[in-house]
Amino acid sequence: MGLDHLYDCPDKQEARDRIYSHLMAEAPGPLMFFPGPRRWEIDTALRHGFPLDKMIPVEKSRGILAALRKMCARSYGAGHPRLALPPCHAATLAIVCRGIPRGSVRAVNFDFCTSIEPLGEDSTRDDLERFFFSGAMESGSLSVELYQGRCKGFAGMEQRLAQLFAVIKRCHGGLVVPIEHGTYQNSRSHASTSMLWSVYRLEKTKRRDVK
Ligand SMILES: C[S@@+](CC[C@H](N)C(=O)[O-])C[C@H]1O[C@@H](n2cnc3c(N)ncnc32)[C@H](O)[C@@H]1O
Repeated sequence: MGLDHLYDCPDKQEARDRIYSHLMAEAPGPLMFFPGPRRWEIDTALRHGFPLDKMIPVEKSRGILAALRKMCARSYGAGHPRLALPPCHAATLAIVCRGIPRGSVRAVNFDFCTSIEPLGEDSTRDDLERFFFSGAMESGSLSVELYQGRCKGFAGMEQRLAQLFAVIKRCHGGLVVPIEHGTYQNSRSHASTSMLWSVYRLEKTKRRDVK
């Protein structure tokens, strides 16, 4: 079973489906996302209408990417035929963004395995900052998934959403409209982790000429 029971959690799948229905409503790609070691997210994106050739999977760990390739190459039932994973090699988000033409990414799901809190090198904030400063995405829809962290309950969620919104607003610099957010508990993880997800519509506003 390995990692399957963690990534195949029904509550997580429900969140994936909500997220992808919003992403597709905005634009059918190009889509940038962190698929992780299993193909559930790729299958979800396909089901919602994102074509494989408009997917830009990003994964920094060679081991995780190898596990994903292995799983994509295997068929496991009628609804899940073998897949040819779009071209990608193990690299961080910051590195992948450097090769992307300006403004070409129109849909994003960054499923971080961290909270928004840590400020050290390679924190979620750094990742979002590097992504926006690369210019890969200007307009479209963006979803972020995070650990809700120690601050649980409604107040904790409001606080995390405010932090996340502030980071996105500062880094993107244009119009940022929250669309929907939700939480789920991964009951299959040891820590019974509380996850928070939030989807935004982004629009790069043109600067008016000042006379
Ligand atoms: C939570 S898992 C993804 C699970 C997947 N989205 C799903 O629904 O099944 C997050 C993955 O993103 C990768 N990751 C996190 N931050 C990254 C970054 N800055 N650059 C590249 N990969 C990253 C991690 O190595 C991990 O495999």
